[in-house]
Amino acid sequence: MSDFWGSSFMRSLRALAPEAWLSFPELDAGRVRLRRIVAADASALFAIHGDAERMRWYGASPLASERDAVTLVRSFAAERHRPDPGIRWAIERKDQPGLIGTCGFFDVQRARGTCLIGYEIAGHAQGHGYMREALQCAIAWAWDGLEVHRIEAQVHPENRRSLAVLDKLGFVVEGTQRGVGFRGGRFHDMLLLSLLRGA
Ligand SMILES: CC(C)(COP(=O)(O)OP(=O)(O)OC[C@H]1O[C@@H](n2cnc3c(N)ncnc32)[C@H](O)[C@@H]1OP(=O)(O)O)[C@@H](O)C(=O)NCCC(=O)NCCS
Repeated sequence: MSDFWGSSFMRSLRALAPEAWLSFPELDAGRVRLRRIVAADASALFAIHGDAERMRWYGASPLASERDAVTLVRSFAAERHRPDPGIRWAIERKDQPGLIGTCGFFDVQRARGTCLIGYEIAGHAQGHGYMREALQCAIAWAWDGLEVHRIEAQVHPENRRSLAVLDKLGFVVEGTQRGVGFRGGRFHDMLLLSLLRGA
């Protein structure tokens, strides 16, 4: 971001009219593209989020119906309209239309310059490096796009695939957050990882 666009003058203008400044960036990420999530993605989202086994470590209960997936589309879209806007993209293969997963950032705290990363991919698209390409591109955008210097990830200690992706992207395990997760009627530990800008 140039000095002018990052200046306090521009920041105060954006604070006055945040909607007017919020474009939705569509990104080119190698074999995949990152685009806006739309209502027509609900059934593909349900195929992922309704799969209890697949979403075992995700941190949210699996969806019970396609109607829940419509609500999820709306809640992903709403990220962009928070006071500190986050973002959630659909991940789509360039050679085959249709949502194969999502990724993005939430719990953005611009005053602290931090946010959390989230992502999931369909079983049929797992194990091809698509998520890694998507996240590399999303992270490169996030430093200026969200005005953050630190991206955090909260991962279940048994979610080995997720830890492997983050490791390849340069995230560092900072420690265990004890009893911060809740699943199946019980509290459980989560690992906290982070990536710093320029690290
Ligand atoms: C976590 C998750 C996104 C990882 O997906 P993934 O496809 O394994 O991740 P990557 O894109 O990094 O792919 C890596 C795999 O692709 C393989 N691969 C194949 N071609 C590749 C290429 N061109 N480039 C890079 N990797 C490639 C790698 O060897 C690796 O395979 P391996 O794990 O069998 O060794 C997925 O397991 C998931 O959606 N889980 C459920 C939701 C979830 O837990 N989300 C995270 C919450 S914290």
